[in-house]
Amino acid sequence: MSDKQSLEGEVFYPSPEVIEQARIKDWEAVARRAEADLEGFWAQEAAELEWYQRWEKVLDDSNKPFFRWFAGAKTNIVHNALDRHQKTYRKNKLSLVWVGEKGEVRTYSYFALNRDVCKFANVLKAMGVKKGDRVTIYMPRIPEIVIAMLATAKVGAVHSVVYGGFSVDALQGRIEDSESKVVVTADGGFMNGKVVELKKTVDEAVRRCPTVETVITVQRTHHEIRMEPGRDYWYHELMKLPLASGHCATEVMDASDPLYILYTSGTTGQPKGIIHAHGGYMVGVYSTLKYVFDLKDEDRWWCAADPGWVTGHSYIVYGPLLMGATTFMYEGAPTYPYPNRWWSLVEKYGITVLYTAPTAIRGLMRFGESWPNRHDLSSLRLLGSVGEPINPEAWRWYHRVIGKGRCPIMDTWWQTETGMFMITPTPSVPLKPGSGTRPFFGQKAEILDDQGNPVPDGEEGYLVLRNPWPAMMTTIFKDPDRMVKQYWSKYPGKYQAGDAAKRDKDGYFWIIGRTDDVIKVSGYRLGTAEIESALVAHPAIAEAAVIGLPHEVKGQSIHCYCLLRQGFKPSEDLADEVKNHVAQHMGPIVRPEKVVFVESLPKTRSGKIMRRVLKARAQGLPEGDVSTLEE
Ligand code: WT7
Repeated sequence: MSDKQSLEGEVFYPSPEVIEQARIKDWEAVARRAEADLEGFWAQEAAELEWYQRWEKVLDDSNKPFFRWFAGAKTNIVHNALDRHQKTYRKNKLSLVWVGEKGEVRTYSYFALNRDVCKFANVLKAMGVKKGDRVTIYMPRIPEIVIAMLATAKVGAVHSVVYGGFSVDALQGRIEDSESKVVVTADGGFMNGKVVELKKTVDEAVRRCPTVETVITVQRTHHEIRMEPGRDYWYHELMKLPLASGHCATEVMDASDPLYILYTSGTTGQPKGIIHAHGGYMVGVYSTLKYVFDLKDEDRWWCAADPGWVTGHSYIVYGPLLMGATTFMYEGAPTYPYPNRWWSLVEKYGITVLYTAPTAIRGLMRFGESWPNRHDLSSLRLLGSVGEPINPEAWRWYHRVIGKGRCPIMDTWWQTETGMFMITPTPSVPLKPGSGTRPFFGQKAEILDDQGNPVPDGEEGYLVLRNPWPAMMTTIFKDPDRMVKQYWSKYPGKYQAGDAAKRDKDGYFWIIGRTDDVIKVSGYRLGTAEIESALVAHPAIAEAAVIGLPHEVKGQSIHCYCLLRQGFKPSEDLADEVKNHVAQHMGPIVRPEKVVFVESLPKTRSGKIMRRVLKARAQGLPEGDVSTLEE
């Protein structure tokens, strides 16, 4: 990209004020430096953090694609997120500002957060949690989820957070696969003024998981729950014990030791346990948050995701704390009790940077401008988007109504697997609504056809990444071959993202969507296979196929095609029952939009369901190549 006048299409140039504030004024220069010396660039970023022992090699690529970043180094991400701040003025700075759905407020200085994390780390140790053990965390958006994650990492154990919007089957599968001994949960959470009964779901899931010895429950909703003697403990009671002292040494970890497992959906089969490690992940999220959202000491950063997804892991919990920033968290729904809730929070807490998903923007947009216009949003200086492509209409509304035309929107493309932003602008980069602009420093992206040839600019193809990056997944839990097969095999030596995309003449990337059996519902990543197995668990259903179809607010919604068992007749009531069944087993976010009863499903001769054909039929589009279709 050269002369700014030459950019094609609708372009938003940064104002002089934005450039003035930006950490990076000359994007091209930094990009060139990182391209010329990838390891040098990341070594310099890593040097801004503390290490118990320096690395021998920045990037060990002797066993691709199992890249090892900062090989030989010793650290612990919690040392950099909490311990090191205790030695500076940040000890007294707010680390976390939390607001409950009912309006309660809790704030934690870096001192207070560290103290509670130490206390809970001591509790976990007393429960027998050791380095390398897995701890499942299934909690609402309350400060204790952050404390539980950090305490687990502090003792060298591996957290596996399961999003609180999932239900019993999803939770059980993830506890089982991770073989967790300890589960941390809450009695419930508040969402839309209602209680979400988390402990009840845990009870059901754990009944079928023999590895679980201990369940620790935070008291949040105070509704009555069952406590099993010898297995169940109240968090607040444990935290009062003398063993829960406010001092706890942070475990020394190898840079490549696992920090967490996060389950995510892919092509068919069960969710995969993506593993991120302490060293490289720490450097990647630190550096991306620093450059992309340009966080400064005086910022109040609000990533409005849930800690249960990678967005929350990287940019509610780890990234901001590594930066020594103030991270804001709100428990409840954006429209509770009214559609101005978010905007009133921005005003009341002086939020300076807001990072959210297109689905939330579209959802709030529906209520009109008068809701945000009732509030003073002048504290905002930057906005962000993540999770799915943002349609230009929503982009413009977000920019004009929320950002008042002053705040650049950082559209960040990345994945659970990448751990950090991969295609993203920084504040001084000219923006085009709907494009994440270009790859982050040190990265090269390409658009390839099926054979691996680059497609011409403007044409659709498969998105691949060329270079290793520090926050890359290190493996898939218990299944390293699956990582090689799914991401590094189609195009040897290159990372296949699973997305279709285009690149324009200016080198800007435009994401189109997933090319596999992943559905993005309100930005949540769901696998068709998991939903299909919940469907066939219903007594009336013999076989099922699930596809995602476009939805105005959610981006995509779930459509189920079901073959009934003998003796069952299709009806509206049965369709509703099936929807409830899926929501109950998988979670409320997985409730199907539509259940259709069919006589047959389109299949290949080898018996694979052709979801592509279902999708085309549902939208009245041409069915494409159906030569393998069995009739
Ligand atoms: C998939 C990854 C990484 C945070 C949340 C999602 C889609 C993500 C964007 C964006 C267009 C996006 C892709 C990707 N996606 N961000 N800015 N523009 N699409 O993580 O749940 O692992 O999902 O989300 O399809 O492959 P995830």
